[in-house]
Amino acid sequence: MNSIADELQRRHQLAELGGGQKRIDAQHNKGKLTARERLLLLLDENSFTEFDALKQHRCQDFGMAGQQFPGDGVVTGYGHINGRLVFVFSQDFTVFGGSLSETNAEKICKVMDKAMEMGAPLIGLNDSGGARIQEGVASLGGYADIFLRNVEASGVIPQLSIVMGPCAGGAVYSPAITDFIGMVKDTSYMFVTGPDVVKTVTHEEVTAEELGGASTHATKSGVCDITFENDVEAMRQTRRLFDFLPLNNLDSAPTYPCDDPFDRREPSLNTLIPESDTQPYEIRELIEKVVDHRDFYEIQPDYARNILIGFGRMEGKTVGIVANNPAVLAGVLDIDSSRKAARFIRFCDAFNIPVITFVDVPGFMPGTQQERGGIIKHGAKLLYAYAEATVPKLTLITRKAYGGAYDVMSSKHLKSDLNLAWPTAEIAVMGAKGAVEILNRREIASAEDPAVEALKLETSYKERFANPFIAAERGYVDEVISPDSTREILCKSLRMLENKSVKKPFKKHGNIPL
Ligand code: HXC
Repeated sequence: MNSIADELQRRHQLAELGGGQKRIDAQHNKGKLTARERLLLLLDENSFTEFDALKQHRCQDFGMAGQQFPGDGVVTGYGHINGRLVFVFSQDFTVFGGSLSETNAEKICKVMDKAMEMGAPLIGLNDSGGARIQEGVASLGGYADIFLRNVEASGVIPQLSIVMGPCAGGAVYSPAITDFIGMVKDTSYMFVTGPDVVKTVTHEEVTAEELGGASTHATKSGVCDITFENDVEAMRQTRRLFDFLPLNNLDSAPTYPCDDPFDRREPSLNTLIPESDTQPYEIRELIEKVVDHRDFYEIQPDYARNILIGFGRMEGKTVGIVANNPAVLAGVLDIDSSRKAARFIRFCDAFNIPVITFVDVPGFMPGTQQERGGIIKHGAKLLYAYAEATVPKLTLITRKAYGGAYDVMSSKHLKSDLNLAWPTAEIAVMGAKGAVEILNRREIASAEDPAVEALKLETSYKERFANPFIAAERGYVDEVISPDSTREILCKSLRMLENKSVKKPFKKHGNIPL
């Protein structure tokens, strides 16, 4: 009996050691933590329970039979974050570079299946050289088994991917399907093919960082939702993000005690909108002054900055926030901002998180680049996302709501529940200058002083349309409110909408313009 206990202990010790002390040191020397150290930081103290610590690969080729590491390169199991259940896998780069074997994939699939059965989120910590080369198709099959589960879990449990090392080849598609991707600066990268293949095929010379580092994906591709300075911050921020989310699509997000008064007045909001309607201002200021304790968790802060998305809380309950940002490109809607916001709204809708939309938008971005890039279909994604969302939807127009963008940005017509406007709102088909140029072209051309005439006509157009009253008279705006009372009115509205329930006719699924 003792010999079995000893053997068990020996195997567990081996599992704890992963690929051995030398490789652990190499991992630390790269500024990275090990798979187990990361889990210790991610999960509540003593809450991690491991599955399959002794599982081993079955590969006999390439001398693999003699190379066994209990656990086979991935640490899996469950634990808690602030007392709430979560399933996790953490790839261990010290064992065959964290590469995915058939066995390793079975371990990941096991926690994915359990997460679905228990209705608890899944967090994957990625640090892997990709498919285990020695195993060939068995490894590729393992990836597809994971992808399938990612898709089945989509919209049922939140799935978070934190990329903390290499993530290359087809391996990128598991994180890509999950709800949010976080990346650690300087030590992580994601690409479909690495710099060497790029050079061979396209003759382009590019570093791994330029091709697929955190900064590339956070600013250029939009693949990365959150960047972290290092592994420790990554785990801390992932816990923070997790706290905003429900456990599954039948659950509501957790409610936290809140001592920020729901009727807190913010007189400074009365002067947020500048005198001139072409002057920018920072919409972040409004968001921070409205949500509980100024706590706004921004997603994709460095990508398509003309729109802001992220989580906050109102009276302790999670809300999703979407806001045009007039400080960047005047808050215009373009391809990137439409895609960014659409995906976020769909996440919120899938997981019962009300959406608050702050509107100050001059319209859609004109130009050949946008048209050839497919702004028609990408803009339609945003429209589709708002129209299909059945969670409580609140909209506040702070200044401009022009043209198609008025319709798209959670208008009354798309079944938004409550549409508010500040007195500074301007709701029209287009800005005064453009409108007058089209409507009064001949009048202006034949005037004694065309510039003076144009200005006169613009002023009269503005007087007619640059206010919220025509929309309010029609009921497209439910209420024109004083800016300082914004938080109070939004909080009261969310209380009123708490039990909102919408039944839709059966369909297999819609056909969002992808
Ligand atoms: C088996 C692997 C491995 C792999 C790394 N290792 N990748 N073992 N299969 N895919 C092993 C190495 O042999 C080494 O073992 C250890 O992990 C650490 O690797 P190093 O190369 O020493 O580390 P580093 O210099 O940091 O480089 C990391 C790396 C590099 C950039 C990831 O290892 C690499 O390029 N690996 C191959 C990546 C790749 O092409 N994967 C297949 C992609 S295609 P020892 O014993 O020395 O510690 C793919 C298809 C998926 O994944 C398709 C899904 C549909």
